[in-house]
Amino acid sequence: MITIREMTSNDLESVLSIENECFREPYKLSDLEYELNENPVNKMLVAIDDDKVVGFIDYMITFNSSTITQIAVTSSYRRKGVATKLLNAMVESFPKDIEDKVETITLEVRASNLGAIKLYESFGFEKVIIKPKYYKDFEDAIYMVMRLI
Ligand SMILES: CC(C)(COP(=O)(O)OP(=O)(O)OC[C@H]1O[C@@H](n2cnc3c(N)ncnc32)[C@H](O)[C@@H]1OP(=O)(O)O)[C@@H](O)C(=O)NCCC(=O)NCCS
Repeated sequence: MITIREMTSNDLESVLSIENECFREPYKLSDLEYELNENPVNKMLVAIDDDKVVGFIDYMITFNSSTITQIAVTSSYRRKGVATKLLNAMVESFPKDIEDKVETITLEVRASNLGAIKLYESFGFEKVIIKPKYYKDFEDAIYMVMRLI
């Protein structure tokens, strides 16, 4: 059974290997260490099966908005609802008090990443604008937003 929990330093190597498997511009170990231990607005959750990290989500909360920086699931675990579980756990983690309520979640996704776009649409995100040549290799990004209130 897949469970979701906060990431710890013990998960760094496993998350790094999923980074390298899944992304064209993966974070380095030092980037992950910064996000996990130093970036005060950042949060990271991992999906676990049999004590093994099979996916993760990396997001920020700034005032009433959250931004997903990365989400990835190792290839043998895809299309089993793991990313959806990570997204649900992220929403669950948002502050409960009214003043700090997260009202919108935003993200950028590569225009060619149709699987991820489908995932986000199935979760409730909408395409808002295209950010031309957003990535280092000049691919466009689609900016997507989900409103929680
Ligand atoms: C995108 C990604 C995170 C999806 O993870 P996942 O665990 O397979 O997603 P889920 O199983 O929760 O998918 C939920 C729904 O999203 C849609 N979806 C997810 N992946 C899809 C794909 N490759 N093609 C079409 N639809 C897809 C489907 O509607 C799916 O429901 P279904 O399986 O019942 O049809 C995973 O493919 C991945 O890690 N890709 C590489 C990294 C990446 O591109 N990350 C996103 C950019 S930051």
